[in-house]
Amino acid sequence: MLILNKTARVFSKPSKRKVYEFLRSFNIYPGTLFLHKLVLGIETSCDDTAAAVVDETGNVLGEAIHSQTEVHLKTGGIIPPVAQQLHREHIQRIVQEALSVSRISPSELSAIATTIKPGLALSLGVGLSFSLELINQLKKPFIPIHHMEAHALTIRLTNKVEFPFLVLLISGGHCLLALVRGVSDFLLLGKSLDIAPGDMLDKVARRLSLIRHPECSTMSGGKAIEHLAKQGNRFHFDLKPPMQRAKNCDFSFSGLQHVIDKTIMQKEKEEGIEKGQILSSAADIAAAVQHTTACHLAKRTHRAILFCKQRNLLSQSNAVLVVSGGVASNLHIRKALEIVTNATQCTLLCPPPRLCTDNGIMIAWNGIERLRAGLGILHNVEGIRYEPKCPLGVDISKEVGEAAIKVPQLKMKI
Ligand code: KG4
Ligand code: ZN
Repeated sequence: MLILNKTARVFSKPSKRKVYEFLRSFNIYPGTLFLHKLVLGIETSCDDTAAAVVDETGNVLGEAIHSQTEVHLKTGGIIPPVAQQLHREHIQRIVQEALSVSRISPSELSAIATTIKPGLALSLGVGLSFSLELINQLKKPFIPIHHMEAHALTIRLTNKVEFPFLVLLISGGHCLLALVRGVSDFLLLGKSLDIAPGDMLDKVARRLSLIRHPECSTMSGGKAIEHLAKQGNRFHFDLKPPMQRAKNCDFSFSGLQHVIDKTIMQKEKEEGIEKGQILSSAADIAAAVQHTTACHLAKRTHRAILFCKQRNLLSQSNAVLVVSGGVASNLHIRKALEIVTNATQCTLLCPPPRLCTDNGIMIAWNGIERLRAGLGILHNVEGIRYEPKCPLGVDISKEVGEAAIKVPQLKMKI
């Protein structure tokens, strides 16, 4: 450590990578000299091939990502064999790139962490087989990663957040509320009973043919809805948030999607246009669906905060709510959640947008967290399998529902 500090003074404002590079010019390898933990993270659970090298202090030494969004936008959704093929084509290059940007030799790695659950079977399989080969070559420990655990812990890389905290994970494939009590200690408070909000927004965007909209053609469905909603008037459509009578923390989005489908069909008739053309009221519909989604997410999250406080699972005055996943980059949704956290004396934290969506950094960081806690580090990978379906933590959503907490009405003036 002494050497590191002395050397660091050579640079006016030294980044850890620069120090590593400087040391390496003398053939000094920090990985061995300082026993600094370095983890390579690999993510292929859905439609992003991503890798990163992160050190134990949260420094990102290198990262690379290949997104398949453009391909899937054209085919109108993810086709698993296509996703698998694209992962196969890019994984070697992406991992290589992350390693070379980080300028470490693979022998310096402390471990390799890879998403093995939950996700698309064919996609998970590519990441796992690639990682197992790498582990065999390098003789490194393997840390299997739960994709949602990684999303939940990302905030501890960017902010000083102690356990416990509440997390709302909202993406194209997931929707859950959980209390994070430790690195792999989660209480599941609620989840979507059908589809995830990102999936619903993607379907609505497709039904509205937003890919043909000149301003939205390269955007994901959710982003396109957010973009268009800014030009719309949400009061032109009266959509009701789902599950208003169920006093639990579960979510539902498929009913809302069907209502919107019907509304669009009706509007197409009124405007005399064919399916596939863009409605003049598309922006109003986008604004209404975005707001209704925000209100639904806010209400369930509000109840989760009250439940945790009632049971002393969270601090009364210092609680933290973390929101992550692709949908968390939506500013309207963030504002709705901010109204809830302000009303409940909580702090709302969101990782920066590039860490909200799938990436390799969160997987590598989860590896670091597990290394530090000494949890789930495998030296023998025999029998390891990917798991397309895998719940997160202990499910107490029934107990949450039985508590039937009434949530005070908040004005969602956004
Ligand atoms: O976390 P993510 O990159 O991948 C997984 O689904 O795991 O999230 C992608 C989802 C997509 O459904 C996309 O439409 C949605 O996040 N999304 C958004 C926004 N940006 C991406 N939804 C709402 N508003 C956004 N700005
Ligand atoms: Zn994700």
